[in-house]
Amino acid sequence: MSIFDDPGLFGRLWADTYDGPGGNPDPAPAVAFLADLVDGPDPVGGTSPAGDNGPAGGGGVLELAIGTGRVALPLAERGIPVEGVEASPEMVAKLHAKPGGDGIPVAIGDMADVPVTGPYRLAYLVFNTLFNLVREERQADCFRNVARVLAPGGAFVIETFVPDPADFDRDEQVQMREVTEDSATIRLHRYDRAAQTFVRQTIRFDADGVHLHPFAMRYLWPEQIDALAERAGLRLTERYADWDRSPFDADSRSHISVYRKP
Ligand SMILES: C[S@@+](CC[C@H](N)C(=O)[O-])C[C@H]1O[C@@H](n2cnc3c(N)ncnc32)[C@H](O)[C@@H]1O
Repeated sequence: MSIFDDPGLFGRLWADTYDGPGGNPDPAPAVAFLADLVDGPDPVGGTSPAGDNGPAGGGGVLELAIGTGRVALPLAERGIPVEGVEASPEMVAKLHAKPGGDGIPVAIGDMADVPVTGPYRLAYLVFNTLFNLVREERQADCFRNVARVLAPGGAFVIETFVPDPADFDRDEQVQMREVTEDSATIRLHRYDRAAQTFVRQTIRFDADGVHLHPFAMRYLWPEQIDALAERAGLRLTERYADWDRSPFDADSRSHISVYRKP
């Protein structure tokens, strides 16, 4: 199967090491930001889910591509009813093996289809994972389906990097990741600027041989994401450079964007 048509590939390759050392960002700032949104007024006038510990008029919270629960677990620990969608059963098995993880329902499926009904007061898709949808029409499907399951007034929060043309001016990039006495890890990228995609190989050399971890993304500039949202009937209401609400400007290398359903 092509790397562009295999949403389960990430989890098959990374589930065992995803939560390992040196890995992923501290979820605390994201959790604080998302919890603030949930603690706001209920979009359809029900009780706050954080307040009554269960879905209210505006419903609960949905994480697309929930993974092993890096963000969802600490959010659920605050009493917020989080559900997930995830393509990889391997990632979900890791989530459900963690304390509190089995209390988080996850629909196994493609986040472009959003295979749940809602309504949710908040949906979120963080850590650049929108770009894991490597086809333009599937990115559009994702926004359309999120709009379908959001309650009126509900929010969709996206966190992605801002593409930097300096990274791919010759349609390729080589990064050294790690060099030790026993191993070396490099990353090679091949860009297709017309399609706005890249394929990455993370290659580890060690005593057991050569290990390949392929990965593909379709990157978007913030205004392209806004256009997807607008076509789905969602409106940009807030944009920051990071979870601490630093102002977003032309030098920002990432953004947190909040879209609302009217
Ligand atoms: C970088 S991880 C992020 C996991 C989690 N959201 C976090 O912030 O730690 C990307 C996740 O997206 C999932 N994924 C990739 N493509 C997907 C798709 N089309 N539908 C659902 N999940 C997908 C992967 O299995 C993986 O769990």
